[in-house]
Amino acid sequence: MGLVYIRNAAQVVTMAGPNDKPRTGAAMSELGVIERGGVVLEDNRIAYVGTDEEAARYVEQHSAGQEVTVIDATSKLVTPGLVDPHTHVVFAGTREKELGMRLNGATYMEIMNAGGGIHYSTTRTREADEEQLIRETAKRLDRFLEHGVTTVEAKSGYGLTLEDELKQLRVARQLHEQHPVDLVSTFMGAHAVPREYKGDPDAYVRLITEEMIPTVVREGLAEFCDVFCEEGVFTPEQSRVILEAGMQWGLLPKIHADEIVPYGGAELAAEIGAVSAEHLLRASDEGIRAMAKKGVIAVLLPGTAFFLMTKPAEARQMIDAGVPVALSTDRNPGSCPTESLPLIMNLACLTMHMTPEEALTAVTINAAHAIRRADRIGSLEVGKQADVVLFDAPNYLYLQYHYGVNLVETVIKNGRVVIQDGRRLAG
Ligand code: NIG
Ligand code: FE
Repeated sequence: MGLVYIRNAAQVVTMAGPNDKPRTGAAMSELGVIERGGVVLEDNRIAYVGTDEEAARYVEQHSAGQEVTVIDATSKLVTPGLVDPHTHVVFAGTREKELGMRLNGATYMEIMNAGGGIHYSTTRTREADEEQLIRETAKRLDRFLEHGVTTVEAKSGYGLTLEDELKQLRVARQLHEQHPVDLVSTFMGAHAVPREYKGDPDAYVRLITEEMIPTVVREGLAEFCDVFCEEGVFTPEQSRVILEAGMQWGLLPKIHADEIVPYGGAELAAEIGAVSAEHLLRASDEGIRAMAKKGVIAVLLPGTAFFLMTKPAEARQMIDAGVPVALSTDRNPGSCPTESLPLIMNLACLTMHMTPEEALTAVTINAAHAIRRADRIGSLEVGKQADVVLFDAPNYLYLQYHYGVNLVETVIKNGRVVIQDGRRLAG
């Protein structure tokens, strides 16, 4: 493939290390910015990052016998490919009707308890075959790519039977192979108690721990295990049983915690040493302190709070307490149907008072840590995967300022241009 030389960028945000652990506190503001920078890619790796002068010299010295593709980044901002560490992107059907219901006063939980919400999406997803799921999900992945997102975590949890959970995870695996966006899979059979188990949720917990988890692991279909620990869904005790069973099978724990009511989810995450706890809108002070102590990453989802018209998480309190924070869309059909991770950064700044520096850290290196990929992605450092975004922005601050439009111009995934002039290239 030869060399790709991204020349003369107004700013390059490198997120250069130390990146052995997720960033906390003041380190969340260290972006490693290079003014008038250049980046060189060789095949699917980053070969050089520095000032444009240095990068030009590197190209000169290494271009013998190689094809050199030059991408002009004059007046542009260059960042690592964005990482979305929390999505439910594999599903069928849409739920725009619920927005109307919520605008008329119904709550998210009321809709779910009446058989809508996650149950509705489960019905549609069970009805869909793999081909339909691949078609619908690929379109969402294209949109992610258009918004600069080159890696997403993808949870199951709209199947809620062994076969349908496997179907979702197989679709994620297939898309990981076929689509430029990388998918990292999480088994979330504990997304809801399916209606057929309404009277006996513990029987469903047993199905998860005794059948689903072993089968998912034997087929190599997931790396993480997640639970919707919430009043009326799974109790902290049931959540612990599920996550510990997952851990015994080698699945790393994540947890949907304290989204609607304070429920001890943050505390549980710290106790079992979860990689991350997500949502945390109503996390207790004690839970936040415990997460900081254990280094549990808070994956915050301000788009979900916005779309559910509720108070967002206490990001400032978490960062000040030393919790490493990542950000995500939570892309799903019910509580946050957007693929725009840049919009999520805007919301993080405007509704949770995160700084532009913290927001960028939260969608790059800290997000990579939340899916245990920080050795490969999340920063522009020599040897890492060549996932790079060019924004039509003169500096990183501008991203948080010119909101509501897509500023992504070029996306390079694994060394290949996949978005040009804001458009997805065929293939
Ligand atoms: O993270 N909170 C639980 N699960 C998803 C929403 C899923 C849905 O509504 O379909 C979330 O917001
Ligand atoms: Fe979620």
